[in-house]
Amino acid sequence: LIDFSANINPLGPPAGVWQAIREALPAIVAYPDPKARQLKNALAEKLKLEVEQIAVGNGAAEILYAVLRALRPQTVGLIQPSFTEYREAADLLEARIIAVQTEDRHDFRPDLSELLAVCEQADLFIAGYPNNPDGQLLPIDWLVQMAEVLRRHGGYLLVDEAFIDFVPMAKSMLDQLDQYPNVTLLRSMTKYYAIPGLRLGYALADRTLIQRFERELPPWSVNGLAQAAGRAALTDERFEQRTREWLRAERPFLLEGLGRLAGIKVYRGEANFILFRCGCPDLQTRLGRAGILIRSCANYPGLSEQFYRIAVRSREENQRLLEQMARLMGRVQQPCPTY
Ligand SMILES: Cc1ncc(COP(=O)(O)O)c(C=O)c1O
Repeated sequence: LIDFSANINPLGPPAGVWQAIREALPAIVAYPDPKARQLKNALAEKLKLEVEQIAVGNGAAEILYAVLRALRPQTVGLIQPSFTEYREAADLLEARIIAVQTEDRHDFRPDLSELLAVCEQADLFIAGYPNNPDGQLLPIDWLVQMAEVLRRHGGYLLVDEAFIDFVPMAKSMLDQLDQYPNVTLLRSMTKYYAIPGLRLGYALADRTLIQRFERELPPWSVNGLAQAAGRAALTDERFEQRTREWLRAERPFLLEGLGRLAGIKVYRGEANFILFRCGCPDLQTRLGRAGILIRSCANYPGLSEQFYRIAVRSREENQRLLEQMARLMGRVQQPCPTY
């Protein structure tokens, strides 16, 4: 199967990562550095932060759960639809969830006044930047306003930047972490560097918060191979450039190709994945028979079985997907912007 369902960089892992893993293999007989000092140093240098502002974990998902355990929010605000693990993690704590429901007719763009109203009530608001599955990127000044509102009553903002490396126009509150000690940025290295099986993620926040998160993370949570791979990945600028070039060409190619198919509405997010709606409820099964796996979004609260998400992949693979979809759905002469 060609996997369009997981949003993994098809150019990776970088050659330096393979090399680092090979070199680190003999060290698996010893425990890894429980503090992952070299990896944290490399991150601190790259992001121009203090090491104490960084927590690393076995993927962003592990840190997400640790953040919630550390903050123990009674009320969690989130955008719906969004990454389903936010809800799962909040449910584990039996927190009350208040969702800002975004709508198909507004391309899943949330409303600022609704976001702020939920921030007034929430102990923690979790926002994807960009949001999974629609790729929406909130304006950075909205995130700042949300952080302000939350701070006034002792609330926290968690910005999930798992896909931020794929979005050149994204801003991030990275430079404002000192001003906003209630803000945490969550990042994943598994998608961009294509190591979801190895797992690596990190959180950036105020020193005191980082200490609280680390108390909730198990010891040795980042294994030795992942620490070595992470260090090598961070220094590979050529890989970053190749990724930018690939995405600059392939995202528009896929968007335009999808837009030319009959009966499809495409949502123009900003990420390395694309959400679309189509009236063919068994599209996933039908494409599966042609060797292509796409993500049905039926299990996202707020979406239905008409919604699908695909990752941007290589030209050959994208072409194959478009051909198979055209075969199943028929072509139209003009792009079809509305459903
Ligand atoms: C929005 C979002 N955040 C976090 C994660 C978790 O990332 P990781 O693989 O680093 O645990 C995912 C994984 O799919 C995701 O989609």
